[in-house]
Amino acid sequence: MATILWLLIFIFMWLIIPANVKFHVIDASLTQFNLTTDNTLYYNLKVNITVRNPNNNIIVYYRKIKAIAWYKDNDFGAMELAPFDQGHKNTTFLQAVFEGQTHIRLKPNQVAEYKQETNVGIYNDLALDFDLTIRAKYERLFKTNRFDPPFIQCRRLRIPFISNTKTSPQHFSVTKCTTRYFFLQRSST
Ligand SMILES: *[C@@H]1O[C@H](CO)[C@@H](O)[C@H](O)[C@H]1NC(C)=O
Ligand SMILES: *[C@@H]1O[C@H](CO)[C@@H](O)[C@H](O)[C@H]1NC(C)=O
Ligand SMILES: *[C@@H]1O[C@H](CO)[C@@H](O)[C@H](O)[C@H]1NC(C)=O
Repeated sequence: MATILWLLIFIFMWLIIPANVKFHVIDASLTQFNLTTDNTLYYNLKVNITVRNPNNNIIVYYRKIKAIAWYKDNDFGAMELAPFDQGHKNTTFLQAVFEGQTHIRLKPNQVAEYKQETNVGIYNDLALDFDLTIRAKYERLFKTNRFDPPFIQCRRLRIPFISNTKTSPQHFSVTKCTTRYFFLQRSST
């Protein structure tokens, strides 16, 4: 009897627990990435992202989408993307552009890596985080309040440098981002 009950609970959970929304970085390029001797980074980073809601009974309302760019443990840029709604099994294309200058602190070995990467024309260890606030509508059941899913983390991006005079022979390869349980408020720790 207990076994059957557990089986029913399991099937119910399986039906109701939604699959994570999937983020992919599909293209990225740097047209400026200049670290000066006084530790100022001049940057122009463009990133194309797809966001897919794989569920067929949930609508996601993205109310805040903040993208944060990192280079070797330094967050150097942040921007907010326009809120949008996402229906069943739909994929949304997003574009983030980070442009500006900031102070960053690289360790001496990271500065050496930076120089090497500059020579090669492709930068390693860039990353992108998404800080989201969403509402989710479980069809015919209920709509949640606003909550913040765990940070979406797109790690280890290798991004080619492209200038007017020089195109990198290397191309960006599509990178899947990691999500912890998407439809739950992130823990504060
Ligand atoms: C991103 O998408 C736009 C529009 O489709 C395209 O023009 C651009 O080359 C893509 N790649 C980057 C890195 O912006
Ligand atoms: C990097 O920035 C410095 C200071 O603005 C400038 O002198 C130098 O030409 C820049 N280098 C590149 C490759 O843009
Ligand atoms: C999913 O996207 C397509 C094309 O953009 C759109 O026509 C359709 O209405 C969307 N579905 C939902 C449920 O939002």
